[in-house]
Amino acid sequence: MRTIRITGTGSALPGRIVTNKELEQMVETSDEWIRERTGIGERHVSVGETVVTLASEAARKALEQAGKRAEEIDLILVATCSPEQYLPCCACQVQAAVGAVNALAFDVNAACSGFLFALNTADAYLRTGLAENALVIGSEVLSKLVDWTDRGSCILFGDGVGAVVVKSTQDAPWYAHLGARGERDILWSGGMGSEERYLHMNGQEVFKFALETVPQAARTLLAKAGMEKEQVDWYVLHQANHRIVESVARRLKVPLSKCYENIERYGNTSAGTIPIALDEMAEQGLLKAGQWIMCLGFGSGMTWGGALFQWQDKEEK
Ligand code: UT7
Repeated sequence: MRTIRITGTGSALPGRIVTNKELEQMVETSDEWIRERTGIGERHVSVGETVVTLASEAARKALEQAGKRAEEIDLILVATCSPEQYLPCCACQVQAAVGAVNALAFDVNAACSGFLFALNTADAYLRTGLAENALVIGSEVLSKLVDWTDRGSCILFGDGVGAVVVKSTQDAPWYAHLGARGERDILWSGGMGSEERYLHMNGQEVFKFALETVPQAARTLLAKAGMEKEQVDWYVLHQANHRIVESVARRLKVPLSKCYENIERYGNTSAGTIPIALDEMAEQGLLKAGQWIMCLGFGSGMTWGGALFQWQDKEEK
């Protein structure tokens, strides 16, 4: 059976870093509160970089890693909920920037679950032979939608992008699980240009939703694969709050050491968190051929989902 394999990763972050100390000057908060309640120490914030420029930079790195030329890519998916420009879609703009002239390209908006929805969309395209090589990117500049006077939300988010190149392959195990529950009022924004552009969030409801859906998604993936939780080498969760990662690990009874975390440095980059984590892990040599990786996410929509797969075999590139 045809499925997909990740053969390259890349990421890009804006140069400007905003520390918790800096936020203390903007809203009534403290470094101590933010670290204790979220695990976040700092975040990157765009000063001119856009969803498209950052996505293009991450895409180039992922292509180089995968040893693929842009012309070989026949599908580009950009997961984003913070595009600065509505038309053309970000994926088409990335296509133009990297020169992937043979690709079809479109955006996916499933908020913070967006990268996993896009990755599993790529799987569906590659599985059915509609494409062979895809670029899947999670790219967000949420700082433009954040109300920097709302301490309940502005401390959480950051800007950043991760990208992967995937190729169609034979018999590589790939298990997916996605879900959506239409609920308008928990986490929403009218989008760039709207009078209601600022992100509105009921933090506690999102927290509860994550603890309800993420462990269940993990169990579903394990059942689909016929695996035990101990067989998974890495759990790569959406980086929204360290306490959520901790609680999910506790519920699943998996050691926290198997859950990769980088929220301290980036905050919540929405669709960017999981591919940024994968890129860092690959870069640090943490991901070894044959290891089992489970990615899990949740976000506005409300949406949730996951993917369970084996890390690439270098020879297979
Ligand atoms: O990708 C999905 C995106 N969203 C999420 O994942 C959000 C998930 N939720 C969360 O991460 C947490 O709910 C938050 C970090 C947003 C908030 O943490 P919490 O532990 O749920 O705090 P809370 O809203 O229950 O507020 C506790 C107290 C309140 O004060 P009182 O009423 O107890 O006096 C808040 O006013 O903390 C206060 N507070 C703050 N204090 C200092 C809320 N935000 C802050 C702040 N600094 N930034």
